[in-house]
Amino acid sequence: MTAQATPISAPSAPAEVIHPLWVRITHWINALAMAVMIGSGWEIYNASPLFPFAFPRSITLGGWLAGALLWHFAAMWVLAVNGLVYVVLGIATGRFRRKLLPIRPRDVAADVKAALTGRLAHDDLAVYNAVQRLLYLGVIVAAVVIVLSGLSIWKPIQLQELTALFGGYDAARYVHFFAMAAIAGFIVIHVVMAFVVPKSLRAMITGR
Ligand code: HEM
Ligand code: HEM
Repeated sequence: MTAQATPISAPSAPAEVIHPLWVRITHWINALAMAVMIGSGWEIYNASPLFPFAFPRSITLGGWLAGALLWHFAAMWVLAVNGLVYVVLGIATGRFRRKLLPIRPRDVAADVKAALTGRLAHDDLAVYNAVQRLLYLGVIVAAVVIVLSGLSIWKPIQLQELTALFGGYDAARYVHFFAMAAIAGFIVIHVVMAFVVPKSLRAMITGR
């Protein structure tokens, strides 16, 4: 590398970018799309519940089945296209490999223990601990599963090979539901942690 190509950082220069612009844009579009998909999904669920409970109307979106389906089918394009951009760039730029791997069970156990005893450090926001890596990779996988299972219950005839992969329409519906439950559970922990460590929230907004 030549001398000119080396970035020179003066002492007063702003700190390194932790989250590049594409991560921040896709992250917040995803957060919005997920909120719409979960709210409308719960209303769709209420029309024909899989389990002996319903979601309170006050936290569902769409008002009734047809309204909820319209929201679901509108936001799914936003979610899927945005998610595809994030996953392709995550792989192509090496971000996933750098930030999310490796995940060693021993590190996860150690970090869970440290977290429970209040000794898990968040000094360097650029490096995810083992629990963060596991949860972020896990929710990315859950998102891929929910999109594929969603497609297979949306077009069970046209996409019958995909639907068969999930074990048929009824099984795909359960997969879709449990993926939603996993994502919703992730979001609860994730949002609490973002406010417990506010500088991580600032970094996901401003990049630094
Ligand atoms: C490309 C993405 C998606 C597609 C094509 C899709 C498609 C569908 C379809 C067709 C249904 C109706 C199933 C039925 O008639 O019983 C449905 C239900 C549902 N969706 Fe999605 N969905 C997608 C993403 C999501 C996401 C991201 C979430 C939440 C994180 C979600 C949560 C739900 C829930 C909770 C239900 C009701 C479950 C049930 O009772 O079967 N979906 N989805
Ligand atoms: C209001 C809702 C949300 C808030 C406040 C929030 C906040 C944040 C913050 C502060 C970070 C950086 C955290 C860190 O340093 O560990 C982050 C990263 C991340 N969030 Fe969220 N988030 C939200 C919704 C979501 C949703 C709905 C998902 C997915 C279902 C999600 C998935 C992720 C992932 C995968 C990362 C790591 C991204 C990367 O480094 O490439 N977030 N979020």
